[in-house]
Formats: sequence, structure tokens, C-alpha cells
Amino acid sequence: MLLLIQGTRPDRMEDRFLRENLVSYRPAPSTTPNQNSVNIGDLDSGLRAFHKPLRGVKLELAAVYGHEAVGVGLNECAAWRLARFLGAPYDEMVPVTVMRYHEANSAVKLQYPWIADGWGSFASEKPGTSLDPTPLSIPALTDAAAFFDALIAQQDRHLAQYRWDQEDGLLGLIDHGFAFARPGDPFNDSVFVRQRHAEGREKLDQLEQEALERVEKADLIGLEDILDPKQISALEGRIRRMRQGGELLAPGDW
Ligand SMILES: Nc1ncnc2c1ncn2[C@@H]1O[C@H](COP(=O)(O)OP(=O)(O)O)[C@@H](O)[C@H]1O
Ligand SMILES: [Mg+2]
Repeated sequence: MLLLIQGTRPDRMEDRFLRENLVSYRPAPSTTPNQNSVNIGDLDSGLRAFHKPLRGVKLELAAVYGHEAVGVGLNECAAWRLARFLGAPYDEMVPVTVMRYHEANSAVKLQYPWIADGWGSFASEKPGTSLDPTPLSIPALTDAAAFFDALIAQQDRHLAQYRWDQEDGLLGLIDHGFAFARPGDPFNDSVFVRQRHAEGREKLDQLEQEALERVEKADLIGLEDILDPKQISALEGRIRRMRQGGELLAPGDW
């Protein structure tokens, strides 16, 4: 269903990430043989994306978070589709992400014998550096990221799960593989949700309330065709509780 949906009226950037040729494919620097296999794919126009092949998902780790390989890829794509629907600032923070097939060629396989390929989520590069806490002291950025993470039930937003582009003041949220959690699913961290609560800004503003209403009215933008039913009912529940309470959910509350 995701493949049908994403191929139907893709936006301009999705279309490029779906169709442009890959001219280079290699493991991302942080990828070691023991973790999810994530590869950098350069498109012929110069765009760069990160490919997380389903075959390269570390199943033991995914299972700890309540997911399996396909689910990790679907979560990545669903997070983007939600951000796209919400519009700014969320569609600027979250990478454009599509499900794409790519096979490493034999030269690449010779150089990186452990490389995984095949179907996987393909997410546009977010520029900037990792582990920089600066965005946590900028309420506009923290609050938007917190809202998004609470909405998608992001289970693993630590300091290496975003990119901070100092020059342009851009926050890029990366890695939505462990998200759309169900009640009881494990939680590691959510730096933005924690920060917003710690600073007493848990009340949702008008635009956030309206965003929740829009997602609800749009029947959760068809995500029930992509995610599993328990993920969908948990998402419905989060929206309902945030609308009723007028507040951001607490970290790990899904
Ligand atoms: N959209 C992206 N923009 C920039 N860097 C990325 C992006 N996606 C992945 N990366 C890089 O690849 C690494 C691993 O990707 P990630 O999605 O976090 O995989 P994992 O599931 O293994 O944690 C990240 O720490 C980052 O360095
Ligand atoms: Mg990660």
C-alpha cells in the first residue's frame, strides 16, 4: 500500500528521490557491522539521501522497541507523510522519505562485503552536526520538534537523532524507525519532549490544536493503510488526549 500511495501524486522532492539515478552508494560513516545498516546514496543531480535497507535492520534491537524490519521502514515513511501533511515547520524538519529499492553493484559489494541493500527507506540528507544541544535552548525549535515527537510517539530521540545546521539555524530530525509506539512499547529518550515539559511549555498553542484537528478530520491521512492497527489506535488516542487536555503528552506516554 505504501508503494501505491507514494507513487500517487508524489510531491516534487519525493518524485526526485523515487526516480533519480543513484551514482554512488556506500555505508554511512556511523554504520558498523553490528548496527542497522544505513547507506549514503548520491543521486545524479547531487541530492543525497540515506538508505536504510529492510534487510539491514538489526532485528534484535528493533524487537526491543516493538518493531520488525518492515515496520522500521514503514515508520520512517509514515513520519514523513505526516510531516508533509502538517506543513511548515514540520515538513522542513523531517527528511523527505520514500521507500525505494536499490541494489549495490558488485564493486560496492566487494569493497563493503557486509553492506545491505534492497528495499529500504530513503531519507533526504539533513545538514549539520550531531550532539549539539543548541536547538534545545531555542523554544521555537524545541517546541515544534516536541510536538512532532509526541504525535508520532518517537521512542528514541537522543542527541544523535537530529542534525543542527548552525549557519542556517535549521533543525533536522532524523531516524523515525522506532516510532508510532503502542502503549507499553519501550521508550529510550525524547530530548525535545523532555525539554518542553521541563520549561513549562506543555500547553499546546492554537496552531498545534488545529494541526491535531486537521489530522483527525483527514482520517489520519490514510496511515491505516501503512501502519498496523494497534499503531493507528495509539495514534488516535494520542490525538484525542492532546486535544482534550490541550497539552503535550509526557515523554513516553503513548
Ligand atoms: N536524513 C539524514 N540526514 C543526515 N544524516 C543521516 C540521515 N539519516 C541517517 N543519517 C546518518 O546515518 C546515521 C544512521 O542513521 P539512523 O537513521 O540514525 O540509523 P539507525 O537506525 O542505525 O540509528 C545517523 O547517525 C546519521 O549520521
Ligand atoms: Mg539512529
